[in-house]
Amino acid sequence: MAVLEILVYPDPRLRNIAAPVVHVDDDIKTLVDDMAQTMYQAPGIGLAATQVNVAKRVIVIDMSKDQSELQVFINPRIIERDGSQETEEGCLSVPDVFAPVQRAESIVVRALNRDGEQFELHADGLLSVCIQHEIDHLDGKVFVDYLSRLKQERIRKRLQKHAKRAVHPAPEAVTL
Ligand code: NI
Repeated sequence: MAVLEILVYPDPRLRNIAAPVVHVDDDIKTLVDDMAQTMYQAPGIGLAATQVNVAKRVIVIDMSKDQSELQVFINPRIIERDGSQETEEGCLSVPDVFAPVQRAESIVVRALNRDGEQFELHADGLLSVCIQHEIDHLDGKVFVDYLSRLKQERIRKRLQKHAKRAVHPAPEAVTL
């Protein structure tokens, strides 16, 4: 398995719109495994393929404390949404930035699992937020898009300055 490089906002590649997966083949399974490894190492609770510069509709999520409950969503689609909630969100592609975002309280999502089997899941609370946040990534959206333009500008400047200061680029895909 490999740890992949995570793109950092405002990298324009975060705006790519991911294409549906046609066959859940070995390449997709490898992508899922590498994404899980990358998410665990970061560490984060969710990661979308867009964030590792792969324009395919694949998401991994694990909300457990001990990395024991990996959830895989391939071609996820929200088929029902209800209510609203506001949560302080962060993102592996927007380091050290947290801001409140309003989203549906509960959703029903339909997707394929790592074996290519279709399932439906009812999610609420933080899991619901996480799924909505990751599907946004597949559509080229980042959570800071929901903030005021002034805040977006501040975040962009801060992260661009940070990128310029870094002498070494982010670690390239390290094979483990
Ligand atoms: Ni994110």
